[in-house]
Amino acid sequence: MTRQEKIEILILDDEKQFTEELHEFLQKSGYESFETNTFPEARDVLDHHEIDLMILDVRLPGIDGLDILKDIKIERPDLEIVIISAHGDMDTVIKAMRLGAFDYLRKPFRHIDIQIVIERTKKYLHLQRKLKLVEERNSLISKTLEEKIDRHFIGISSKIRDVFDSALAAAKYPDANVLITGESGTGKENIARIIHYSSDRKDHMFCAVNSSAITDSLLESEFFGHKKGSFTGAIADKMGFFEVCNRGTLFLDEIADMPSNLQAKILRAAEEKVITRVGDTSIVRTDFRIISSTNHDIEKRVEENKFRLDLLHRLNTLHIHIPPLRERPEDIKPLLIHFVNSFSQKLNRPNLSINNDVFKTLERYSFPGNIRELKNMAERAIILCKFNSLGIDDFPLTSRKSIPSESGPEMINLKFQEIELIRKALISNKFNQKAAADDLGITRDALIRKMKKYNLTIGKSEN
Ligand SMILES: Nc1ncnc2c1ncn2[C@@H]1O[C@H](COP(=O)(O)OP(=O)(O)OP(=O)(O)O)[C@@H](O)[C@H]1O
Ligand SMILES: [Mg+2]
Repeated sequence: MTRQEKIEILILDDEKQFTEELHEFLQKSGYESFETNTFPEARDVLDHHEIDLMILDVRLPGIDGLDILKDIKIERPDLEIVIISAHGDMDTVIKAMRLGAFDYLRKPFRHIDIQIVIERTKKYLHLQRKLKLVEERNSLISKTLEEKIDRHFIGISSKIRDVFDSALAAAKYPDANVLITGESGTGKENIARIIHYSSDRKDHMFCAVNSSAITDSLLESEFFGHKKGSFTGAIADKMGFFEVCNRGTLFLDEIADMPSNLQAKILRAAEEKVITRVGDTSIVRTDFRIISSTNHDIEKRVEENKFRLDLLHRLNTLHIHIPPLRERPEDIKPLLIHFVNSFSQKLNRPNLSINNDVFKTLERYSFPGNIRELKNMAERAIILCKFNSLGIDDFPLTSRKSIPSESGPEMINLKFQEIELIRKALISNKFNQKAAADDLGITRDALIRKMKKYNLTIGKSEN
C-alpha cells in the first residue's frame, strides 16, 4: 500500500485477541499502530507519540469510553477518534458523534471496513493540514500575537504588507500618536491592536472607545473619570479612559464624529498628559498613546469646520492608510480560505471545499464592506450550502458595482503620492530626516518644506 502521509493509530479495546489481530493487520498494511487494553496504557502512548487517529471501544470495564472521548477531544482537538460500538447500541453512537467522534464501526467488522475508515480519516487529516499550512503561510502575524489581539491578520499583497510594516514601525515609537484611515471593514482596529501589542505598552491596557456611541451627558466623565457625588449617579470615584489607559493605548474609533466640545478637551489631555476628574480639583498625570481611526475624509471635515485642525495634527503624528480590498484582490483568496476554514470548524461543517470560480468572481467584486463583508459572506455560505463544496451560488453579491478598469483618482493624485513617499521614507529611516531626504533625492531643507506644506508632523515623540 502506498502512503501519502505518515499516520499513527492507537487502538484501545479491552479484548486482547481483538487488539492483537487489528494491530497486526494495521502494521501489515503499512500504518504505524499501537495496541492497548486499558486506559492508563493508552494514556502513556498518547503522552509519548503524535497519534493522529484513535480506534476506541466505548465499552471499557470500569470507565466510560464517552468520557475518554470527550477529554481527548478537548485536549487534542486535531486527533480524530473512531469508536467501536456493539450491535444495537445506536444511542452511544449518536452521543459519541455529538462529542466529536469522526466515525464509528460496529462489531464485528471486517478488516476492509476499518481500512476504508482509516483512508477516509487520512484524507480528512491531509486536507486539514493543507488548509492549516496555507493559512499559516498567509498570516502576517505570529500565533502568539494572534492570541493576544484575539484576531487574525491574513494577507499576501504588497499593499497589506506595507501597512503591516508601518504598524510595526509605529510600534517602535510608543509615544507617537497614530491615525489609521481606511474604508469601513478594512481592518483598522486590527492594525491598532497589532501596534499596541507589538509595542512596549503591550502589558498595559488597550482600550477601544467609540466616542460617537457615548451619550453627551456622560462623555466627560467617561473620558476623565469623576469624583463621588459630583453629579447624580456618581456613587463612587471612577477612573476615566485616560487614566485606565495609563502606560497603555487609547484607541479612538471613528473620530470624525467626535462632538466638538470633546475635541477641545481631548486635545488638552493629549498635549499635557494630565487630566482632572469631573468634580475634582487635583490633577492626575497619565501616560497614554492615542491611536485613532476614521473611515471619513477627515481633512474635508476640517475644511467644513467639523473637526479641529490642531487636534488632527496632534493625532496624525504617524498616518497609516489601509487600502480597500478591491485594490488588493490577491488577498481575497487567502482570506476566504481562512474564513471558510475557521467557520467550518466553528459550525461543525468539516470537509468543505471551495470551487475555483468563487475566487475568480469575488476577485472582480468591489467589496464595499471590505473584509467584514467577505467574512460575513463566508459564514452565510457555510450555513446555507447543501453540499460539500461551496459554489458561486452560495455567495450572493449585494452590490454588483464593478471595479473601474482605470486607476482610481488617488492613484494619479500627485500630492497623495508625494505624501505617501515622504511618509514611507521617514518610517523606513526611523524618522531621521537627513537619511529620509537622501532616500528621496532631495535636501533636508526641501524635505522640511514639504512636510510643512502637507502638515506632516512626523516625529519620534511629542513629549
Ligand atoms: N487582514 C485581515 N485578516 C483577517 N481578518 C481581518 C483582516 N482585516 C480585518 N479582518 C476582520 O474583518 C473585520 C473588520 O475589521 P475591523 O473591525 O478591524 O475593521 P474596521 O476598519 O475597524 O471597520 P469599521 O470602520 O467598520 O470600524 C473583523 O472581524 C476583523 O477581524
Ligand atoms: Mg472599527
